Order: sequence, then C-alpha cells, then structure tokens
Amino acid sequence: MSNAKELIDAAVCARKNARAPFSNYLVGAAVRTKSGDIIRGCNVEVPILGLSKCAEQVALFAGIAAGHVEFTEIAVATRDGAKPCGACRQVIWDLCGDIVIHAIDDNGIVTTYRSKDLLPHAFELSSLPNKH
Ligand code: THU
Repeated sequence: MSNAKELIDAAVCARKNARAPFSNYLVGAAVRTKSGDIIRGCNVEVPILGLSKCAEQVALFAGIAAGHVEFTEIAVATRDGAKPCGACRQVIWDLCGDIVIHAIDDNGIVTTYRSKDLLPHAFELSSLPNKH
C-alpha cells in the first residue's frame, strides 16, 4: 500500500478540481503509467448532462493523449469511497486490462479492488466474429 500513497494523494488532490455543479458529486482520479508517471483527472459536468465525463475517463484519456499506452494502477476519490461506474469499468478494462483500483473516501479509507473483479465477463471486441 505504501507506494500507492502517492497515487491516492493525487486522486484526492485532483478531486479539488472537479466541476460538478449539477450533481455536486466531486470525483478525483489518478492513474499510474507503466513508466511511473501519475496522470490526474476529475469529473467535468456540462449542461448537456450526457456530454459530461467521469474522472477516471478524463485521467485515462489524458494519459493516452500524453503518449502513454500502459497503465498499472488507478485511484478514485469520492465522498463515500464509491467504486467506478459501469462505463468507467469498461473503459478501464479496455485501456488497462486487469489492474489495481483504489477507492478512497472522505475519511481517507482506501478499499482496493481489481478491474477483472469489478467487471467480470467484460465486453471485448476480439470476441466478435468479424473483428476486422
Ligand atoms: N462520476 C465519476 O466521475 N466517476 C464514476 O465512476 C461515477 C460517477 C461522476 C459523474 C457525475 O459527474 C457525478 O460523478 C455523479 O454521477
């Protein structure tokens, strides 16, 4: 857990940047790249609510945009220590495979999961008959 502390702190810190005027549910995320960098994200809500973006996806897409292709660990900070939503579980699976996921609440309680346990039997494009 000790080397997870930096990642967890980054997620808690990123939560301060959350833009959630509609739900008032602030989420911070931080993902560790294979090279050891930490990339942050927060949820961003806009008036067309379906265009809003979850913190985990903002962090992962920022990581991809910065040129990273492999991620090893993600931390998500919320008031109640919620696990990533279903859509984020799918994106985490697609971009990271089976990685460690830390969920942190307002009291600093950390619960650790693995993405394969949070999204068993995930959709995978390779399972389609016509994959090309
Ligand atoms: N949210 C996240 O950022 N990540 C999740 O895994 C669950 C939900 C955001 C979306 C929305 O801005 C707010 O939390 C309430 O659903």
